[in-house]
Amino acid sequence: MRTHYCANVNEEHIGQEVTVAGWVSSRRDHGGLIFIDLRDKDQVVQLVCDPADNAAAHKRAEEVRDQFVLIATGKVRARGEGLENPKLKTGKIEIVVDELVIENRSKPMPFELNDEKVNEEIKLKHRYLELRTQKSYDIFKLRSKATIATRNALDELDFLEVETPIITKSTPEGARDYLVPSRVHGGEFYALPQSPQLFKQLLMVGGFDRYFQIAKCFRDEDLRADRQPEFTQIDVEMSFCDQEDVITVAEKLISDVFHKCGFDSVPTKFKRMTYADAMENYGSDKPDMRYDLKMVDVIDIFERCDNEIFSKIAATPKKNRIKALKVPKGDEIFSKRQMKGFEEYVRKFGASGLGYFQMKEEGLKGPLAKFFTEDDLQAIIDRCELEVGDAVFFGAGDKKLVWDYMGRFRIYLAEIMEIIPEDTFEFLWVMDFPMFEVEEGKVKALHHPFTQPKSLDFDDIEEIESIAYDIVLNGTELGGGSIRIHKEDMQAEIFKLLGIDEEEANDKFGFLLEALKYGAPPHGGFALGLDRMIMLMTGASSIREVIAFPKTQKAQCLLTQAPSEVDAEQLKELSLRIRQQAPTA
Ligand code: AMO
Repeated sequence: MRTHYCANVNEEHIGQEVTVAGWVSSRRDHGGLIFIDLRDKDQVVQLVCDPADNAAAHKRAEEVRDQFVLIATGKVRARGEGLENPKLKTGKIEIVVDELVIENRSKPMPFELNDEKVNEEIKLKHRYLELRTQKSYDIFKLRSKATIATRNALDELDFLEVETPIITKSTPEGARDYLVPSRVHGGEFYALPQSPQLFKQLLMVGGFDRYFQIAKCFRDEDLRADRQPEFTQIDVEMSFCDQEDVITVAEKLISDVFHKCGFDSVPTKFKRMTYADAMENYGSDKPDMRYDLKMVDVIDIFERCDNEIFSKIAATPKKNRIKALKVPKGDEIFSKRQMKGFEEYVRKFGASGLGYFQMKEEGLKGPLAKFFTEDDLQAIIDRCELEVGDAVFFGAGDKKLVWDYMGRFRIYLAEIMEIIPEDTFEFLWVMDFPMFEVEEGKVKALHHPFTQPKSLDFDDIEEIESIAYDIVLNGTELGGGSIRIHKEDMQAEIFKLLGIDEEEANDKFGFLLEALKYGAPPHGGFALGLDRMIMLMTGASSIREVIAFPKTQKAQCLLTQAPSEVDAEQLKELSLRIRQQAPTA
């Protein structure tokens, strides 16, 4: 149909006849001459319709409107003196049209294609139109490149690509399952996989040694800017490996993919930090290392102060924390009012207050200063390495609460101070995660229940460490993994600690426990969020931009109107009846 993509028509073709095809991105009638910018998948070329050259083509061009589909044949010529467009790849030439076919017409667009301010709902309803923009094309071109680079990197490392089931049994990753009712087995359900975790472990028992999959995963959870109900993982598992072997593979894969996608400065080895250090210093298990702002422990100094609230908190240092966050030049940047305003911010996350000091020429000043001796004020200056003009903020209370709100406050400060560099990638391994966390008296696995604990000797269950690691990029969790339990008795023990009794364990994971009895090799692996990786590579503000047909924050597809009601007949076949829903506000 066509002889060239628009992008490929250039000065070499001057004098030759070419045929191009695409959509009208703009049309200008210069009283006589009609200029059309024709765009195919990614570039624009200029068509000229001159009534003196070809009256029929010119007449047809008069009918043309934005986004009509055209096939145009004509001779390439150099643009006139001063009419070149250096911004376009094809900016030195134009095509003088001999034959113009209007292949299809278009209704007026529901939104201006390149208008960033258009309501997202309208764009998602007509997602195929948004995909016509250069921005979208560039994102999906990069995504395709990254996927191919992933396959190549893992193929080179001898990994086998294997597909695992989509309608299957529940694989717990901490979210709710999407369920699929069975017609044949009325009243029974499949679950869509939250990840291929259990199947990849079974592939190791199957002796495949090294597996990968670019796997669709499904999680019914609260959605955020970096979460979708349906997303893609680069999922990897390997046998006869330790943590270092897995990390080496992950670093090779990630650096290869980033390099192939044009990000040459990404290193081949990444920094590491323990979970404990990440929480104590940054209040987060995914600290953004593009900027500093590190927290310091001051609980011992506050224990001596003359304020009952602080000294009481400081009396139980195992359970509580008092953390200082130094903001260089903070006293110069922020007014007193702003500093007090920060308290409102942290209160949203459960803080009961936020103390602060200003570092003046004459020493530490601020509402708290009167509670400390001169020596202890000096100790704070030394511990926090304060210089004149700095400010320092304090969070005090239950350690998890303090980590959480001070961690959020750190990010908030970095954003308002505009100290987060763009166009840099700071990778960080966060290692040695606790195996369990206790929430409202319930023991939960921090990663998943198939992760190997370092040891099961413990006084406090929350102190058990696991051989689990996350890879963090610019403060976003890009992926995670662990060395798995490969012995049945230990897996059964972990289920027990999680409060899953034998009957439930057999019902839910009997197939895994059984497989572990037949010579399961030591194994481990990881999974990277492909969508998140592309989001970070492209600087997209939401994961929705990098998924061809995404869902809204309310897990709806506005294009197809899914989810939607189904016929009574279908429900009957599935042995289902819908209970009348209470009207939602
Ligand atoms: P995890 O649950 O940490 O681990 O998931 C791995 C990575 O998948 C991405 N991810 C998501 N991306 C978009 N939307 C979501 N709702 C979503 N949930 C997770 C993140 C995350 O880091 N089976 C284990 C891996 C393993 O142990 O090998 C797992 O799924 O980038």
